Amino acid sequence: MDLSRQSSIILSITILTTFASNVKSSLPQGLQTLNISSEITTDPNITASFATDFGNLFNRTPGAVFFPSSPNDITTLICFSYTSTTPFHISQRGLGHSTYGQTLVPDGILIDMSSLGRKNHNRINVTNGPIPYADVGAEQIWIDVLNATLKHDLMPRTGETVTCSRESNPDLFYAVLGGLGQFGVITRARIALEPAQKRVRWLELFYTDIKGTHQ
Ligand SMILES: *[C@@H]1O[C@H](CO)[C@@H](O)[C@H](O)[C@H]1NC(C)=O
Ligand SMILES: *[C@@H]1O[C@H](CO)[C@@H](O)[C@H](O)[C@H]1NC(C)=O
Ligand SMILES: *[C@@H]1O[C@H](CO)[C@@H](O)[C@H](O)[C@H]1NC(C)=O
Ligand SMILES: *[C@@H]1O[C@H](CO)[C@@H](O)[C@H](O)[C@H]1NC(C)=O
Repeated sequence: MDLSRQSSIILSITILTTFASNVKSSLPQGLQTLNISSEITTDPNITASFATDFGNLFNRTPGAVFFPSSPNDITTLICFSYTSTTPFHISQRGLGHSTYGQTLVPDGILIDMSSLGRKNHNRINVTNGPIPYADVGAEQIWIDVLNATLKHDLMPRTGETVTCSRESNPDLFYAVLGGLGQFGVITRARIALEPAQKRVRWLELFYTDIKGTHQ
């Protein structure tokens, strides 16, 4: 799921671990000895296709792209970097909707989060009850989350403005601090749900130039 564009309240997030702060830009020896090595590619034709984000302002080719098949695979990579004498940069990409190059990782390893959902289709679990919620894999997109929750006549809450700080809504504040790949990898999120509306209006605006003329 592309959390950079989401507007719902995230109740809880699963963060694997912090990144090493003392990082070097080259990929270390020993990566190929890991059991996840077959999921890592340095093929320039592939790394080049992961060099931009939604804003398309920056082009920063990762040293390698990692296609994990499970959250444990991500743990393996991060632990390897963390305990390595030459730690390296790690970032993650959902559908590439981040902007301003925030999740691009020149010379580091980019995690393709969408590959988490490729083998395992059971990555959206809806729990009904007095406080309904959905446990959602981080690779999911909102239309699929909505589709799954509508089957229970529920939908994600949207559009609520919440002000948070260390004192006000501290849980939300610290969760937001963890966003944008700055200190961890979100592998799933618990999303608050509410009874579904019978109809919704869905608008997509396509801008053809920077002045804001839309089709
Ligand atoms: C990359 O693509 C080019 C053009 O399609 C091809 O000739 C080349 O063999 C590819 N390189 C790799 C490493 O697959
Ligand atoms: C690699 O090893 C970790 C830890 O033992 C395991 O959880 C993970 O499933 C393994 N991944 C692959 C692709 O074999
Ligand atoms: C959904 O439930 C299944 C079965 O309990 C579990 O294996 C899976 O990890 C859950 N997925 C999420 C995203 O919580
Ligand atoms: C919603 O899920 C159903 C299957 O349960 C599928 O047929 C349909 O295409 C999905 N709709 C969207 C918009 O993805």
